[in-house]
Amino acid sequence: MNQTMTAPHRGKTETVEQSLQSATDGHSEQSLLFALPKGRLAQDSLSFLERAGLSIPTDTESRKLILPAADGSIGFVMAKPRDVPTYVEHGAADIGICGLDVVRETERAIYEPLLLPFGHCRLSVAGPAEDAGIPPAAGLDVADLAVRPTASAHLPGRPLRYMSQPRIATEYPRLTRQFFAERGVNAEIITLGGSVELGPILGLADLIVDVVQTGTTLRMNGLVEVRTILESQAVLVVNRASYQLKAAEINRIIERMRLLTT
Ligand code: PRP
Repeated sequence: MNQTMTAPHRGKTETVEQSLQSATDGHSEQSLLFALPKGRLAQDSLSFLERAGLSIPTDTESRKLILPAADGSIGFVMAKPRDVPTYVEHGAADIGICGLDVVRETERAIYEPLLLPFGHCRLSVAGPAEDAGIPPAAGLDVADLAVRPTASAHLPGRPLRYMSQPRIATEYPRLTRQFFAERGVNAEIITLGGSVELGPILGLADLIVDVVQTGTTLRMNGLVEVRTILESQAVLVVNRASYQLKAAEINRIIERMRLLTT
């Protein structure tokens, strides 16, 4: 590495080597690197690791990219949930925690040795309550919603293609496409990076496919769930090579976790 290169770092200049040293401070490259999801699974993941007897970082709010465990035994990366399977597939992290919904959507070549007892939610199809015109628990097949005429199809301004080619806003384009294709519905998938509930509200989409946990977000935005695509929960994921090369360390972690899941 060219040691004269410099990297910007919060208003001061330091060499790349210093920058890397500072980022990895307390974590040896040989020890295990664990990718954890930021956001809604973060706290539950850390609590679960602690209950499993693992040492966790003392300051997870730090801007440091790699956080050493309090006892220095493991390094942790707090990553965007969708990036966890990517880090683990490529071996940038040895092991990680993320939602099963993300694992199924991203289809990475990783091991999934253990489902974890938190992060329960579902990936569902939902639509505007007034359009659906059905009670949420009616068991309606969304394929019916997509192809059968309903009163909403004849409302002024409501495009008829809603019936034959529904527009679906989602952060899960692969699972959504697969779900509708398996039902013979030629859906138009509109991929968004978040707040997909806005899709039907702003007329961008007829339906959404999104994660539902408590159902509050749907209710607050006048949407009803019409079909569950996938039941999800947190899952432990492991890099395939690390599973061989660091077998003892990884298996010890898996066994400690397994004790909490049975
Ligand atoms: C997720 C999901 C819903 C919400 C559902 O969003 O996309 O918006 O949670 O949870 P609820 O059923 O408990 O209301 P998240 O907060 O993870 O952020 P996002 O919209 O950026 O995906």
